[in-house]
Amino acid sequence: MQNIDAYNHVRGESVYLDDIPTIAGTLYGAVFDSPIAHGHIKRLDLEEALKSEGVVRIFTYKDIPGENQVGGIVPDEPLLAEHEVHFCGMPIAFVVAFSAEAAYAAVKKVKVEIDPLPVITDPREAKEKGELIIPPRTFQIGDTDAAWKKCAHIFEGRADSNGQEHLYIETQGAYAVPIENDAIKIYSSTQGPTAVQRHAAVVLKLPMSRIEVDVTRLGGGFGGKEDQATIWGVMCALATYHLKKPVKYSLHRMEDMRMTGKRHPYSSDFKIGLSKDHKILAYEATFYQNAGATADLSPAVMERTLFHCTNSYFVPNVKATAYSCRTNLPSNTAFRGFGGPQGMFVIESAIAQAAEALGVPASDIQQKNLIKTGDEFPYGQKADSEAVECWEHSKTLYNIDQIRKDAELFNAANKLYKKGFAVMPVCFGISFTKTMMNQARAQVHVYTDGSVAVSTGAVEMGQGVNTKMLQVAAQVFSLPPARIKVNSTNTYRVANTSPSAASATADLNGKATEIACNAILDRLKRVAAEELGAKPGQIELKNEIVLLKGKPTDIDWKKLVMLTYMKRISLSEHGHYTPPGIHFDMKKEKGHPFAYHVYGTAFISTTVDCLRGIYTIDAVKVVHDFGQSMNPLIDLGQVEGGIVQGIGWMTMEELVYDKEGRLRSNALSTYKVPDIYSVPKEIDVHFLDTKKENLAILRSKAVGEPPLMYGIGAYFALRNAIRAFNPNAVIPYDAPLTPEKVLMSLYSAAGVRQSPEVVPGNG
Ligand code: MTE
Ligand code: HPA
Ligand code: MOS
Repeated sequence: MQNIDAYNHVRGESVYLDDIPTIAGTLYGAVFDSPIAHGHIKRLDLEEALKSEGVVRIFTYKDIPGENQVGGIVPDEPLLAEHEVHFCGMPIAFVVAFSAEAAYAAVKKVKVEIDPLPVITDPREAKEKGELIIPPRTFQIGDTDAAWKKCAHIFEGRADSNGQEHLYIETQGAYAVPIENDAIKIYSSTQGPTAVQRHAAVVLKLPMSRIEVDVTRLGGGFGGKEDQATIWGVMCALATYHLKKPVKYSLHRMEDMRMTGKRHPYSSDFKIGLSKDHKILAYEATFYQNAGATADLSPAVMERTLFHCTNSYFVPNVKATAYSCRTNLPSNTAFRGFGGPQGMFVIESAIAQAAEALGVPASDIQQKNLIKTGDEFPYGQKADSEAVECWEHSKTLYNIDQIRKDAELFNAANKLYKKGFAVMPVCFGISFTKTMMNQARAQVHVYTDGSVAVSTGAVEMGQGVNTKMLQVAAQVFSLPPARIKVNSTNTYRVANTSPSAASATADLNGKATEIACNAILDRLKRVAAEELGAKPGQIELKNEIVLLKGKPTDIDWKKLVMLTYMKRISLSEHGHYTPPGIHFDMKKEKGHPFAYHVYGTAFISTTVDCLRGIYTIDAVKVVHDFGQSMNPLIDLGQVEGGIVQGIGWMTMEELVYDKEGRLRSNALSTYKVPDIYSVPKEIDVHFLDTKKENLAILRSKAVGEPPLMYGIGAYFALRNAIRAFNPNAVIPYDAPLTPEKVLMSLYSAAGVRQSPEVVPGNG
């Protein structure tokens, strides 16, 4: 089954927000945003801008009929600034004009006077000053204090990982259209249609029932549109509310980069203790999350950092504390992995530090400590582990010992090129960590001509979820794909949706679809049984034919559908699904939060040019736990994309804010993402068939986020290559390990710590 969007994508015919045909009279918006990271607004002067050609109106917070509030978890985020600004890029006014050009021209004429206040960009400084988004949280198992005494080796250190720009190909945007009776329809490039609907209702003081949000697909979200698509939708709706005209705003790339949040940078301290035979006995970590100016999803992201702080390892004594620190940066947000990667980077750094000091390969320590079925995670859930299976399989399948030997030979023979490799095991929990969010609904209609329409809460963002929804319906009804149409995600058809996120979209919405289809199928079978004078249990539908006790009858799918309709039996169903068995107690910080875990092992090798500091990623070889993939093509795409995105985060994507909180890497000329030249020369993915009974849709495990974390191995592979050149190299655990940092590390001397601080260029 190929991706149902593939044909239109290749022909450029798929519809994204900016492809929706505009209605006559459509107006265009543009935001005037704060040039300063923190301050009091003394005066906002709109006079010149209002006189600018083509301007219709300029909206400020004063025009908001309801609450000036779009905070998702904590109500701390105004739609438009009132008296204070908290980050560079904070929206202050929304200009609406007859054309986008006119709107942008007017934005340039808005004047603002701001009394500057002190700017914080560093999470540790924020924590010192008590600027916390929520109180800190601690996950704990065993007793680390007692365990240190039993350790033969103890290592302490610090690890930093930088943020990451989402760089979805389609920038943020929305298009609001007035509907009669004070209703508004919002087309939004959002992962969370219900979030847009809910906040539009709050800001406009309208019932949610009067806000319709519709999403055909996104040109990528990667978490950046889970919460942060909302404000653009609400802003357009605000203008539509007042002007009774369609209003569209599709952000320029540089606006998107400047105004929206990114992956959270983290600064962390770790302490790891090992026994004589290198079992990890104790692990402590303190995470300082750079949340940016508002809460947004930071509390949930912080929580997932704690959930994944021990990655794929069983550690009997753990104490991990996380602080969500308020800084004057755009509010950081969900990004593939959702805090998990940041937590995993720290324990991998701790293991690397131990390995380097003990003179053993990190993979020895990693392998020895893999979590096994029945072992307990620090949050109380017992593992149903595939970690050892993935590891062993990759070791033999890819002949890792041989690759290791070849690299050693290469390094002995070459002075200025060095190879490095690393193994990166991954364990990622599937479910929203907030139990309540794990619910989904699907609406299925069978029309009298035998065609089927499926609507769910799932948003297609390139991950192929619509294809998977279609496959579920096709499988339950035993129909060819051509009979089934998956509709846009629309809050009028499916309500109260959780965002498409947490890699759980196909599981949750697929199960709801399965439930709805099965309910209709049961009715069809009853009708067929009645017609054939048999029992429903004797009826099957296969390839559009009704079977009785396994034998074909002369009733086909279309005929059965029509018979059912004529008997006045419903051919529609609204399925509702919640995964059983998940729970979490935040007071105890214990529970069973995940429906299941996804495992995998990646082997990453790299070659560093030790004269110039540049490098190639030679190969990424993966054994991944897919369950039983329902769509290997799509799932392979997810693994490859995730790996490249993870490598980008760890090795080249360097986000730079200056001390004034201004983004210096604010365009594609200054922010380097992986391109065709920098992707691994080889990506091998082996599908480990782990068919067990589990809560995955058709036993096909969630695949969206976990592969990103294989990319973490690229940092450690590079590190090992540098150490092959200079065994005394001092390499801070400070990702991304850019060519610049690689070069500095290659020629660093023991005892001279490189400054982890990045000095911004001159713009
Ligand atoms: N793949 C593509 N092509 N585009 C995306 O935006 N988002 C990722 C992942 N893969 C994304 C993607 C993220 S952050 C998540 S949570 C999952 O897809 C969401 O979709 P799923 O729940 O259907 O896996
Ligand atoms: N993952 C992704 N998105 C989320 C989550 C989560 O666990 N919780 C809330 N939004
Ligand atoms: Mo993904 S970060 O859960 O949208």
